[in-house]
Amino acid sequence: MKRALITGITGQDGSYLADLLETKDYEIYGLVRRTSTDPFIRINHLIKNDRVKLIYGNMRDKATLIRALEIAKPDEIYNLAGQSDVRISFDCPDETWAINFEGVKMLADEAFKQNPKVKFYQASTSEMYGKTQPPQNEASPFEPVSPYGESKHKTHTDIVKALREKGHFICSGILFNHESPRRGENFVTRKVTQNLVKIKLGMIEGFELGNLEARRDWGFAGDYVNAMWRMLQQEVADDFVIATGVSRTIREMVEMASEILDLGLTWQGEGLDEIGITKDGKIIIRINKYFYRPNEVDYLRGDASKAKEVLGWVPQVSFKEMIAMMIEADQKILTR
Ligand code: GDD
Repeated sequence: MKRALITGITGQDGSYLADLLETKDYEIYGLVRRTSTDPFIRINHLIKNDRVKLIYGNMRDKATLIRALEIAKPDEIYNLAGQSDVRISFDCPDETWAINFEGVKMLADEAFKQNPKVKFYQASTSEMYGKTQPPQNEASPFEPVSPYGESKHKTHTDIVKALREKGHFICSGILFNHESPRRGENFVTRKVTQNLVKIKLGMIEGFELGNLEARRDWGFAGDYVNAMWRMLQQEVADDFVIATGVSRTIREMVEMASEILDLGLTWQGEGLDEIGITKDGKIIIRINKYFYRPNEVDYLRGDASKAKEVLGWVPQVSFKEMIAMMIEADQKILTR
């Protein structure tokens, strides 16, 4: 039985990955950070069945990482913990750096010290491309524009590439945006599906958004964790772009969600004065400067040909299916 340690197991990706590894009969260990609210909502089904063993720890606390590695004795490590909110990284750059770079360095150094043969997956990101124009693939230059993107880029070059040159098995999964019903409510897709469902149910009148023109390549998180696993099953460690190859604006995403809910959304005005109106004439969306990034990544569209060729990975769930899935899940939660 293979043993896996997942940092960030309570998050969207960690929980889907734990579900996947459970079907493959892994012994699953999860690093969990203590918080004042219940973080276990996404993995309660695995905890109840005793399918995951949780170890309290923190990416900023070396002793806890050493202990977690000693307990889990992993064959595979999936480092999914991180400060993953791009907007927040502008407000908290030091914390972002401490978790996304220094924490990974401590974990990776200690992991290879304890077991030079361990396989290590690092959650890298399309945010590293920044201003680089699409399609972005493994050979494209990185030009990050946020503290989050910079921290991930430095980890990619100074930790992943450097340790691989020393002969260790460590991969970067350069994942483009990936969403699901388990997505955090501060990310734009979930914010939109949840608020539009609330509007449909008469729970709120409207909500605010930022930049509607940025383009993202959105896939389904459940598909993307499968790619992570495939990377660690290879003989040779490498980096892979994981994306759908299709890009849409935030505006198009909002329109698709509104269409599924039959809200009859139309837009009026421009810039910060733009509003979204339903067929009944109700203003449901306003623009707020607060939700704009100080520096934006304008256009992401990934080219995942290498993942298709080497890993045999292709996305299974379409964008529309994913948005519909998120709306259905939000309807269930909110009518409960
Ligand atoms: N969060 C948020 N809230 N984003 C908004 C809003 C809003 O109200 N209005 C517009 N946006 C725009 C942002 O400016 C950005 O262009 C886009 O929506 C997507 O924002 P997020 O959903 O917050 O995701 P992200 O692209 O910044 O980052 C996500 O994807 C990365 C992969 O490229 C995160 O999951 C990162 O951790 C991940 O690495």
